[in-house]
Amino acid sequence: MNRKAMCAVPPMGWNSWNTFTDKISEDLIKETVDAMKEQGFLEAGYDYVVIDDCWSLRERDSDGKLVPDPEKFPNGMKAVADYIHEKGFKFGMYSCCGTRTCANYPGSFDHEYQDAQQFAEWGVDYLKYDNCFKPQNQDGRTLYRRMGLALANCGRDIVFSACQWGTDDVHQWIRSTGAHLFRSTGDINDSWNSIKDIALSQMDKLEYSGSYCHNDMDMLVVGMYGKGGNEYISAGGCSDEEYQTHFALWAMMNSPLMIGCDVRSLNDQTRTLLLNKDLIAINQDIECRAPFLVSCESNNPDMRILAKYLSNGDVAVGMFNFGDTPSMAAVDFWDLGLTVSSQKVMEIYDCIRHESLGRKNEILTSVIPAHGCGVYRCCLVDRS
Ligand code: GLA
Repeated sequence: MNRKAMCAVPPMGWNSWNTFTDKISEDLIKETVDAMKEQGFLEAGYDYVVIDDCWSLRERDSDGKLVPDPEKFPNGMKAVADYIHEKGFKFGMYSCCGTRTCANYPGSFDHEYQDAQQFAEWGVDYLKYDNCFKPQNQDGRTLYRRMGLALANCGRDIVFSACQWGTDDVHQWIRSTGAHLFRSTGDINDSWNSIKDIALSQMDKLEYSGSYCHNDMDMLVVGMYGKGGNEYISAGGCSDEEYQTHFALWAMMNSPLMIGCDVRSLNDQTRTLLLNKDLIAINQDIECRAPFLVSCESNNPDMRILAKYLSNGDVAVGMFNFGDTPSMAAVDFWDLGLTVSSQKVMEIYDCIRHESLGRKNEILTSVIPAHGCGVYRCCLVDRS
């Protein structure tokens, strides 16, 4: 079989878990698909619609097959897939490498090939594969390799989304399993502390994200405002400023952009943020270069500056203030690789305000609010 190379750049889409946990249904999925289409999410690149845990019955049938819960999905999964495909989206589902999923539904352990086949028959395009209930003495690497190989041979192009939570140095071996993305941290929740902890935990692993295998920092909590599907996820919510920083970090750090809020009832701020085409363009840049940390001319120890080379020669620069007070940040172009002898300067475009800031010679300075960010696209131009 000819397989397509998938996920050259981080996948984008929506996942049911953060807001709906076990309260999922065919109707919810259809309404979500419609809402995404109407508001321009598909056009912006969000094409995967992923049903997370809790979609099946609690036990397999007598042939060992997974059975969709008939109350939640009365017409089965193929009908859901058909609807999603008709609207131009791709269909994602969920299973687990252990005997049970994290919410205690049947997992795929020792059913890997059977389940991969089943997912292919249903028209699944993406499988999130969790890490709960691994039988004792089973090495996680082998279990992820098994499903990786099963999916690669199931007769359909299915993206393999490994959800391994960053344990066992997953970044060092996950690429070998066939995974197209891998969770690198524990579960996110809807709070600034969770966003901050996750982002800072990956600053020394920036090089481990790249084409065809992306560091998944977990689904977005943008726009949830404390309305998570369980107590752990709700966690109080964030301000719009914090959601903006969250989205910009995920974009700059090459994480998949999987929306986790209820897209049927978005406010304007959330919609505008999630559809920010300048931030999306940085995330989706075809060369998928790892970002790097730039030394930060700031007396604020909680400031981080990231830069990412883009395929057209531009440099994206993100200034992130993890601290609780506004402060100044400055980046010296020398640290981005630009020399004075080059006879070039930078033309700066603000990716949040969508406006040009004109030319800067050697340094870009900005005041960054507490928990805020600035993201700039810097284009090298001749010094005139
Ligand atoms: C784990 C995963 C979450 C979600 C839940 C579902 O905690 O990390 O993303 O899929 O399981 O039970």
